[in-house]
Order: sequence, then C-alpha cells, then structure tokens
Amino acid sequence: MNSSISLRGLEISPPLFLAPMAGLTHSALRRLILELGGIGLLSTEMLSAARLPSENPRLSPYLVRHAQETPLSYQLLVSREAEIAPAITKLHALGAEAIDLNLGCPAPTVRRMGAGSSLMEEPAMVRALVATARRQTDLPLTAKIRLGETLDEDRLRDFCLMLEGEGIDLLSVHARLRGESFVRKPHWPWVGKVKGWLKIPVIANGGIFSLEDAKNCLAQSGADGLMLGRAAAVRPWLFAELAHSLYGVGSEVGAVNRPATYLRFIELLEESFLPERRLGRLKEFSHYFAKNYPFGHHLASAVQSSASLNEAREKALVFLAVNEAVIEDH
Ligand SMILES: Cc1cc2nc3c(=O)[nH]c(=O)nc-3n(C[C@H](O)[C@H](O)[C@H](O)COP(=O)(O)O)c2cc1C
Repeated sequence: MNSSISLRGLEISPPLFLAPMAGLTHSALRRLILELGGIGLLSTEMLSAARLPSENPRLSPYLVRHAQETPLSYQLLVSREAEIAPAITKLHALGAEAIDLNLGCPAPTVRRMGAGSSLMEEPAMVRALVATARRQTDLPLTAKIRLGETLDEDRLRDFCLMLEGEGIDLLSVHARLRGESFVRKPHWPWVGKVKGWLKIPVIANGGIFSLEDAKNCLAQSGADGLMLGRAAAVRPWLFAELAHSLYGVGSEVGAVNRPATYLRFIELLEESFLPERRLGRLKEFSHYFAKNYPFGHHLASAVQSSASLNEAREKALVFLAVNEAVIEDH
C-alpha cells in the first residue's frame, strides 16, 4: 500500500486525512491530533467563500492557526463563481497548503444557498467553478463529494471525470447518498467505482471508527487513502494507530490516556480561543468524545449543562475519574 501521496509538490504521508467538520476541525482539535501523531493532511471546517475575504485571521475563530498546523487544507463553501478569486487570494495570504471545494454538504441551509451537495445537481456550474479555481491557484485543489441523489453510476462517473478534467488534483468521497443519514452503512465499494474511473487519487470517507473499519474500507474501495471525520473527535489517536498499522509510519500506539487527552483538548481551547468561544467548542467535542464510555451520555450532558469552561472541566473530571476506574475494573 502506498504510504504517501504527492500533489503538486505537497507530500501527504501517510495518506490519512482529517475531514472538514463545522464546529470541530478548528485549531485546538488539529493541534491535539498533531500531538498524537499519524495525520497526513489537516483541514479547516467549511469556510464561506463569500465571507472569507473580509474575515480577520487574528480574530476569526475559523481562521485561528498555529505554526505547527501543517500541512493544512482550507475548505471553501462556494455558490458563485465570482466568490472564488477573492477567496483564493485570501487563502494564499493565509498560507494554505491545499484548497478543497465542498460539493457534498447536505445541510438544508447550505443547499438553499446553492452550495454543498446541491452543486452535484449542477455539473455545468461546477465545471465553471472548478475551472476558475484552477486558474487562480497552483496549490493542490481538491474536492469532496457524496455519491449523489441516487446510486446512478453514469451520472456519478460523468461528474467525477468532469472534476478531474477541470484540474481537481484529488477527490474525497463520503460514501453516502445526499439524503442518507450517518446511521446508514456507507457504500465503500462505490468509492472503488470512482477510483476505477479516475487517474487522480481517491480518498474514502464515512464510517471509519477503528482499525478494522479502516481495513474493511480499504479492502472494499481500494482507495488511495482514508479520511476520518467524527472518529477524529471520538478517538483523536486513531490516526496514529492507522499510520502505524496500515502504513508502517510511526510507532505502535500503546495504552491511551483518555482523561489526559480530554484535558489537553481543554488546554488547547484555552490557548487558541477567546473565553466566550471555548465552551461551545468543548460541548461539540464532548458529544463525540463521550462515545468512548458506556455511560458517556452523562459526560456529554454534564458538559452541555455547564455555564462555564471551569464548571465543565470539573464535572468532566468527576465523570472521568469514576468511569476510567470502572473500565479498569473489568
Ligand atoms: C459536525 C459535523 C460537521 C461537518 N461539517 C462538514 C464541513 O464543514 N464540510 C464537509 O465537507 N463535510 C462536513 N461534514 C461531513 C464530514 O466531513 C464527513 O464527510 C462525515 O462526517 C462522514 O465521515 P465520518 O463517518 O468519518 O464522520 C461534517 C460532519 C459532521 C459530523
């Protein structure tokens, strides 16, 4: 298995990608993942191309970035061609190492803007968007899609070939249809179909939470790499486990200290964000991290009902002390 992908001089090694996630893939989570190891390419959350040019990188929580957060891909949410040039100029100024186009987001608010997955229904429009973006940058330009409205092989193939033809350097595929919820099993073999049509690297995304999932996904898709979304918040050390076990990169991950990982995340929030921006991000993260524990919903709701970061930390410490002890007893 190839342990690196080279895109226009950017070396992605190992080919393990952080999925863009609104409210989650900010500076603090990215630094936590970097500290744990195994990541090939980091990502921002989706950034509105229309708003990006006027965002102040020193104030915007979406643009906070520390020097060690590299390589970092910035994801653009685009709905009009005219938004592209100013947004990409800004990304160049911000030191983006790659630029991703969001063509998959199924959220109704995003679709009503004519962005995200609604663009998959407008291939002519996407052709123009990608061509314009390609002219604006020599950085790796990638796209992220879902499988479409229905499993329609011809339509999907035409769309993917169009993206490749217009100069997309890498495609990540969330292996679900637009309307399929996260509880549905992802269609990993469909990522394999996409891979069979294209020459550019194809990355599989959706439903990877363990080494076993990762192996199954690779076996079913033959993908060039894997992209982890929610698992990055549940088990931020999973990148390091996959890097070692799948690609022989880095050392074996021993016992994981989950309370220390959670507390480190809080520290990173404190280092990265203004006080009023921290608690909301801890709540979002805790919703996922809580899945490590059989009674994790108590952790999530304790944090959810906290009025301050300190209160949340104290309640979390109590939960973690009790629940780690319970797990060790078994
Ligand atoms: C809270 C949340 C926010 C998300 N935000 C984005 C986003 O900003 N851009 C995007 O392309 N996908 C977004 N997604 C989709 C993820 O990138 C990913 O495709 C999806 O979660 C499936 O991967 P997973 O099963 O590994 O989580 C989001 C998903 C979640 C759960």
